[in-house]
Formats: sequence, structure tokens, C-alpha cells
Amino acid sequence: MSVDATMHVARPSRRDAYLDWIQMLTGVGLVLFMAFHTLLTSSIIFGAGALDGVAGFLETLHLDTLAHIFVPVLFFTHFVVAARKIPFRSDEQLAIWRDAKLLRHRDTWLWVVQAVSAMIILVLGAIHMWTNINDDAILAATSTARVQSGGWTFFYLLLVPLVQLHVFIGVYRIGVKWGFITDALRPKAVKILTIVFGCVTALALIALARYATMTV
Ligand code: HEM
Ligand code: HEM
Repeated sequence: MSVDATMHVARPSRRDAYLDWIQMLTGVGLVLFMAFHTLLTSSIIFGAGALDGVAGFLETLHLDTLAHIFVPVLFFTHFVVAARKIPFRSDEQLAIWRDAKLLRHRDTWLWVVQAVSAMIILVLGAIHMWTNINDDAILAATSTARVQSGGWTFFYLLLVPLVQLHVFIGVYRIGVKWGFITDALRPKAVKILTIVFGCVTALALIALARYATMTV
């Protein structure tokens, strides 16, 4: 395992470069979906009618059916392709942990957060998608009843920050890897991404508070 786990010291093969493209494209697809998804689920802040209205409109366009097919495909393709970067052997994990502590290198720490959040999102995201895809439609009454029952508030309290961390670190890493974020731009990019991350996470948590307390 390389010292800086965020970069790969070995010369990438053609297959590796191809897989990196798929990883990036599926990651971007999921980021776009999550942006859209957060806007949709946050409409509950304006009341049950707002969520039902937005969801109903998307259903008339059959976007819900499309999401039920494409999002799981994107999610599991991204998982299969990106999981090759996760160190599953304990000696590899220890080496990264040692390097991260030793180097105090921000990007190495960000990568550790990216890998750990990924494994939890895999499990929680799969459970969440399965539950929602099996609902007849997105309705405020169904969602509030679910969030207010059997530990779902804690489930989302964990999922909300982890997904947003994974999204924003992912966007940052794409920017650095593909050259949009140059060394000179890095401090500014980190500042902007941190502020937007804070705002989006706050929005999702406010929405979660509404799901957890609203009576429909
Ligand atoms: C909504 C869910 C998800 C979103 C929005 C998302 C987004 C992203 C993005 C944008 C990247 C950067 C891509 C790149 O560097 O080329 C990334 C990287 C990564 N993702 Fe995800 N992802 C999600 C779910 C998952 C899941 C379930 C896993 C499970 C294994 C995962 C594992 C990883 C890993 C390990 C990386 C880093 C790969 C590397 O070091 O190059 N992601 N993700
Ligand atoms: C077909 C795919 C999906 C559908 C139909 C869907 C639908 C929903 C709905 C209706 C809610 C409101 C709460 C509830 O009813 O349980 C919700 C919340 C949430 N979903 Fe999804 N979702 C999908 C995919 C995903 C994925 C892939 C992720 C990330 C792994 C995700 C993360 C979340 C989070 C974090 C919340 C809490 C929202 C907040 O507090 O603002 N969802 N989703």
C-alpha cells in the first residue's frame, strides 16, 4: 500500500484507468442524484403538501420509476468499482492508519473518511433504497410515519452526515485528480466546499427534524 493512500504510486494499467473513469462517472451520477434527492426530501420543511406536490409531479413524469432502476444500478456499480480501492486486509488498514497519523496530511485523512463512510453508506443506503422502492409512492404521511417509528430517526441521523461527507470529499478528490482544483486553488476550493457542505447538511438535518416531529 502506498504511503499516501490518496494517490497511486504504481503506473495505472489501461484497465485501471478505465475503471477509474467508471468510478468517477458513477460517483458524479450519484452526486447529481443526491443533490436532487436532498432538494426533494427537504421540501417537507414547507409542509406535507409541498413534499406531496413535488413527488406527485415527478411521478407524472415517471421519474420515480427511472430512479428506482437507475439509482440502484449506479450505486452498486460504483460500489463494485470503488471497493477495489478499499484496504480490506488488516495489515493494509494499519499501514494507512499509521501513515495518516504520521503524515498529518489532510488528503490522507479525507481518504480515510471516504473509505469508512463508504462501507456504512453501502449497508444503510441499500436498506433505505429497498424500503423506499417498495413503497407505492412518496408521501409525507408514509415518510413521517416511518421516520417516527423503530429507530429510523437515528438511522437517518447517521446517514445524512456520512452521505454528505462522502459526496463533498468525492467532489474535492475528483477536482484534484482531474486537475480542476490546482495547488493554487486548493485553499479556496476547500473553503467553498466546506461552507456548501455545512449548508447542505444543515438543510438535510432540518428536514429530518420535520420528518421526526410532523403530524400529518
Ligand atoms: C449516494 C452514494 C454515493 C455517492 C454520492 C458517492 C460519490 C462518490 C464520489 C463523487 C467519489 C469520487 C470519485 C473519484 O474519486 O473518482 C467517490 C469515491 C469513492 N466511493 Fe463513493 N459514492 C457513494 C456510495 C459509495 C458506496 C456505497 C461505496 C462502497 C464501497 C463507495 C465507495 C467509494 C470509494 C472507496 C471511493 C474512493 C475511491 C478512490 O480512492 O479513488 N461509494 N464516491
Ligand atoms: C430510488 C432511490 C431512492 C428513493 C426513492 C429515496 C427516497 C427517499 C424518501 C422518500 C425519503 C424521506 C424519508 C423516508 O421516507 O424514509 C428519503 C430520505 C433520505 N434518503 Fe433517500 N431515496 C433513494 C435513494 C437514496 C440514496 C442512494 C441515498 C444515499 C445513500 C439516500 C439517502 C437519504 C437520506 C440521507 C435521507 C434523509 C433526508 C433528509 O433528512 O433530508 N437516498 N429518501
